[in-house]
Amino acid sequence: MVPIKSLEEKFQAAVDAEIKIEPKDWMPDAYRKTLIRQISQHAHSEIVGMLPEGNWISRAPSLRRKVGLLAKVQDEAGHGLYLYSACETLGIDREELFEQLNTGKAKYSSIFNYPTTTWADIGAIGWLVDGAAIMNQVMLCRTSYGPYARAMVRICKEESFHQRQGFEILLTLSKGSEEQRAMLQDAVDRWWWPSLMMFGPSDKESTHSAQSMKWKIKRKSNDELRQQFVDATVEQAKILNVTLPDPELKWNEERGHYDFGPIDWEEFWNVVKGNGPCNKERLAARVKAHDEGAWVRDAAVAFAEKQAKRRAEANKVA
Ligand code: 3HC
Repeated sequence: MVPIKSLEEKFQAAVDAEIKIEPKDWMPDAYRKTLIRQISQHAHSEIVGMLPEGNWISRAPSLRRKVGLLAKVQDEAGHGLYLYSACETLGIDREELFEQLNTGKAKYSSIFNYPTTTWADIGAIGWLVDGAAIMNQVMLCRTSYGPYARAMVRICKEESFHQRQGFEILLTLSKGSEEQRAMLQDAVDRWWWPSLMMFGPSDKESTHSAQSMKWKIKRKSNDELRQQFVDATVEQAKILNVTLPDPELKWNEERGHYDFGPIDWEEFWNVVKGNGPCNKERLAARVKAHDEGAWVRDAAVAFAEKQAKRRAEANKVA
């Protein structure tokens, strides 16, 4: 019996040597557990993230905008499916993942608990939320777990279209009427800080980062990615001629980064704990969709069983 210690040492040596960990490889239970936690929450975020945007599909201002938004929402569904499939390779059942989400046990990104009250919100989500997601997901293309890294490569290609369509919506508004420019500014005021919160708590508050960095699940820390996002987005905001709602935002020559103001972590944890503006609505929508979709799942299972029976009979005859 190989002593467990050397299995862990061999595992860590593979991670350190940038060898991807695959489903059939031995892995510490804690590595498996934190991956199931993170990948499932990522998948839940994709699926719940469809709700605030879906709210505007029937009200998009033009056919072109409607087509772009439809494509984006469909992409998010696909991202969720890739990620649930990657999560299932770790030995958990999809029904269990859905049960965790629908009973409120599982987290999803707090950002999706905010309402989309104007069309400009759809632009702000694409520009800021998908922009933040890209920062994080490009990093995850190099995560140590093979199925997760490969899912990320495909997702990132589609994510950049999401960010571009959001920015273009805002650019159009920025060149519009005074009312449209006011709608743009109002949306950015509301989405800026919750987008910074998407990167998770500060590095000193993060419970998982140290271990996730050692296992190369994470390649950059929450604060590093947040800073990268701020530095890139402040420059883009200048093109939109929009003011970011942070009076402390200022280029720091010495650091080579933008300094920015304190994040309201009380708001963050309040929303994570379920007290955000839309938490209850989002969960109710997910439960309703799951219940109403039961017949589709039953039909798919019945069809698969019928196919299997037909194949078994054909093999018997052959
Ligand atoms: N919303 C809700 N919970 C959050 C959060 C957020 N924005 N950020 C952190 N948390 C939770 C963590 O899940 C953890 O709670 P748990 O132990 O119950 O899981 C706790 O806060 C402590 O945070 P840590 O920093 O220690 O947790 P992680 O190491 O997991 O880091 C993370 C958090 C950076 C979000 C990491 O989980 C991650 O990279 N996840 C994958 C990316 C992801 O989920 N993105 C969400 C958006 S997807 C999206 O936007 C799709 C786009 O197409 C619209």
